[in-house]
Amino acid sequence: MTGPLEKLPDEARRMIEETGIAYVATVNPDGSPNLSPKGTLKVIGDAALAFADIASPGTMRNLAQNPAIEINVLNPFLRRGYRFRGRATVSQDPALIALLGEGLAEQYPIRAAARIDVQAIRPLISPIYTLFGASEETVRRKWEEKLGYRRLSAAG
Ligand SMILES: Cc1cc2nc3c(=O)[nH]c(=O)nc-3n(C[C@H](O)[C@H](O)[C@H](O)COP(=O)(O)O)c2cc1C
Repeated sequence: MTGPLEKLPDEARRMIEETGIAYVATVNPDGSPNLSPKGTLKVIGDAALAFADIASPGTMRNLAQNPAIEINVLNPFLRRGYRFRGRATVSQDPALIALLGEGLAEQYPIRAAARIDVQAIRPLISPIYTLFGASEETVRRKWEEKLGYRRLSAAG
């Protein structure tokens, strides 16, 4: 899907809510990429996302100068996800900051919010589906066994 986006597909919204981790790419002043994880990404509108700036000086500095942003959300067990491309603005809106703080495990100090207007969304899909025709059930079982919830949590 390309071009202006009216509404995020339900599956993409669900994946953002369920996955709990997003990888956010911005552009450094020298043109190099900056990529860092954000656990606070939320859907805040039909085609709008936001995350909290808790400890992201590089990302927020970049967005203040260049609004270009791309976000990956990936379910590591299903080997599927989405990439969201858009423009971001830095916001101090207290209502948005409060919304981003809701449901967090700790009372993190939120310095600002980044609001993303999504312009394009593309699915991320492992070649295991496209080349080998695997089913979601097979892929999920394989990766749950391979990564293992217990081993993942033991790794911290
Ligand atoms: C799992 C995970 C989730 C994180 N979530 C957030 C977040 O939602 N907001 C934030 O500001 N920092 C978050 N961080 C911390 C930043 O990713 C980290 O400080 C990073 O180095 C910031 O880089 P930047 O300044 O280039 O954005 C998270 C880190 C991890 C490992």
